[in-house]
Amino acid sequence: MRIFLDNAATTPLDPDVLSAMTDVMANNYGNPSSIHAEGRKARSLIESARKTVATALNCSIGEIFFTSGGTEANNMALKNAVRDLGVRRIISSPLEHHCVLHSLDSIREAGTAQVEMVKIDARGHVDLEDLKQRLAQSEAKTLVSLMHANNEIGNLLSLEDVSKICADAGAMFHCDTVQTMGFYPIDLNATRINFLSGSAHKFHGPKGVGFIYINSDNIIKPYLDGGAQERNMRGGTENIYGIVGLAAALEKSYANLAERSATIRDVRDYLKHELAAKYPDVKFNGDPDRSHYKLLSTSFPYSDKGTMLLMNLDLAGISASGGSACSSGIDVGSHVVGHLNPDSQRHTVRFSLNHHNTRAEVDTVVRKLAEMR
Ligand SMILES: Cc1ncc(COP(=O)(O)O)c(C=O)c1O
Repeated sequence: MRIFLDNAATTPLDPDVLSAMTDVMANNYGNPSSIHAEGRKARSLIESARKTVATALNCSIGEIFFTSGGTEANNMALKNAVRDLGVRRIISSPLEHHCVLHSLDSIREAGTAQVEMVKIDARGHVDLEDLKQRLAQSEAKTLVSLMHANNEIGNLLSLEDVSKICADAGAMFHCDTVQTMGFYPIDLNATRINFLSGSAHKFHGPKGVGFIYINSDNIIKPYLDGGAQERNMRGGTENIYGIVGLAAALEKSYANLAERSATIRDVRDYLKHELAAKYPDVKFNGDPDRSHYKLLSTSFPYSDKGTMLLMNLDLAGISASGGSACSSGIDVGSHVVGHLNPDSQRHTVRFSLNHHNTRAEVDTVVRKLAEMR
């Protein structure tokens, strides 16, 4: 049996979600835009999924739009805010996911908005005083784009604090909640956020489907031109079974939140304790005391053997990662860990857990690591 500790990259599909999806695949082939019975049935599945997501986040159904995942949702928030809402300045952080950073690069290159990076403190948290000062410095319409939990080190942002800072300054707030959706309660009625993104495969749903929440005050134009799907915002026949799977996975994540989070927290704390006890030279990247409970980013001193650490873990049946899942398959090092420790030659291993992981698995990992460093 393999030990899967790479759940920030993706999570295994929940069997109940799989069966909800296969039921749709087998029995509902209608096009949701058709007016006949098959089409109406497909439409009702999508609208019921939208209601599930809106209920989980305490927002209105008209504020949820399904997308192909977190990448599309983040691209949409940033690019549409500039194109349609008159945003001329974006404040973000160098530790964001590449889909945010690269969207910002293309906005910067197009010259349509100015992009600034907020200061990051030594532990990898956003310096909120610096954010306040930057917001006070300009009258330009500004969007703040900051992630809720970092996908590499896990550091958490206070949604309440940042949404208040933005509201006080009259700025808009986009939050990449891809890593926290389904793991932390999010109440959009109580917290003022303009755009928020989610991705099903991070909470035991299918890959290739996600959503964006767009606060109803923000009227934007279509992201994908085409038919009138997603209330004219994103043309293209909907990924019905993906959307049904997303909603089923999100509903189940929140229904089991207390139990799942307690299990993950316990195993993660045990991992941290055992690593520190057995390997006194281990360091924890970021701020494990204020980070996502599923994530532990570690670093080990440089050694020749250590350059093969991830591969050796894999050969030993243990899946972990060096930072973010790398789209090219080549580990070029993490821009997040690199930003925090620019001169470090240490080997980074990101462990990220799900509720199926156990203390016994941790014992195996800690034991096997001894031969690989
Ligand atoms: C923080 C964060 N944002 C966005 C994404 C992209 O999501 P998706 O894989 O659904 O495009 C990821 C996935 O790795 C992520 O961790």
